[in-house]
Amino acid sequence: MKALITAGGRATRLRPITWTVNKHLVPLANKPMISFAIEKIAEAGVKEVGVLINVGDTEIEKALGDGSAYGVSLTYIEQTGGPMGFAHGVNLAREFLGDEPFVLYLGDNIILGSISRFIEKFEREKLSCLLALSKVKDPQRFGVPEIKDGRILRVEEKPTNPKSDYAVTGIYVYDKNFFEAFANIKPSARGEYDISDIHTWLIEQGHPVGYEEITGWWKDTGTPYDLLEGNALLLNERSAWSVRVEGEVAAGAVIRGAVSIGKGSKIGPSTVIRGPVAIGSNVKIDNAYIGPYTSIGDDVTIEGADIEYSMIFGGATVRPGCRVIESLIGKNAVVERSESVLPKGHKLIVGDNARVEL
Ligand code: G1P
Repeated sequence: MKALITAGGRATRLRPITWTVNKHLVPLANKPMISFAIEKIAEAGVKEVGVLINVGDTEIEKALGDGSAYGVSLTYIEQTGGPMGFAHGVNLAREFLGDEPFVLYLGDNIILGSISRFIEKFEREKLSCLLALSKVKDPQRFGVPEIKDGRILRVEEKPTNPKSDYAVTGIYVYDKNFFEAFANIKPSARGEYDISDIHTWLIEQGHPVGYEEITGWWKDTGTPYDLLEGNALLLNERSAWSVRVEGEVAAGAVIRGAVSIGKGSKIGPSTVIRGPVAIGSNVKIDNAYIGPYTSIGDDVTIEGADIEYSMIFGGATVRPGCRVIESLIGKNAVVERSESVLPKGHKLIVGDNARVEL
């Protein structure tokens, strides 16, 4: 079995962060988001993985290489033809996927636990398609199945009146009938091929389409708040192995719970860090409290701050002199207290589509 991970798109809802970085490379728990999808696929024993990228994109390959770091082999496939939906992208990967069953994994989906049981059920029940479902509060945002007597009758994409409170998550297993379905569906009103139409077509043609519920945590990271939640979840999951101090911690600093501190980082004496917290390498922190569910990238400086439930990306300088919560601070950004410089007041250089709450 092979797998295909999507890593394209424009991620407009995550601007300004996604002006400068592909959404799939935004770090969660200090690792590129897409690496979690690759890890799940590798764990399930799938070794040949295609990655669907935007035309001309080189940053994904730069970050992931040939996949050997994950124990898989990665093949990059450009999604040509403009934004026509990822079902269209899967069809472009037909040559790579061949006639064997495959896992499709949307690279911005984060789940806990293994995906092996989805593959096992697909094989055991000789399905054409297996959908992983998750109960959600806002099914209108997703593909939504109508289910009767344990069977899916159809799937509607982002329906106004959802027929169930399940979302079809971005983890799927298909056989080659996917391609026949694709050849038979039409683009939606927005000009994109909807994956939900593939599912409804397969069901209507009598192909066996099954499902498995994800009872644990699942998230598609569409909005900045989703990123913070995904980051918190992964810090929690990884806290068992992330208790690791490679940097220097001054006497007097207090480190509690699951905290990882990378090489060359210096934690000053007037600091309290309460995990789960991930701190990259060459980070300087002093006179600060770093609270749970915070990730701090490489080369960050933090002084005079009280930070919780936040993500601070590489190279940022944070000296706010106040409490900062639920915040995303982008690469090389500077957040500083301005009182020492006249005239007093907040002085902001805020990128397009940014959001600041003072
Ligand atoms: C896509 C699919 C949708 C699915 C969702 C899961 O939506 O079209 O059916 O429920 O992924 O993440 P998108 O996130 O592209 O809006």
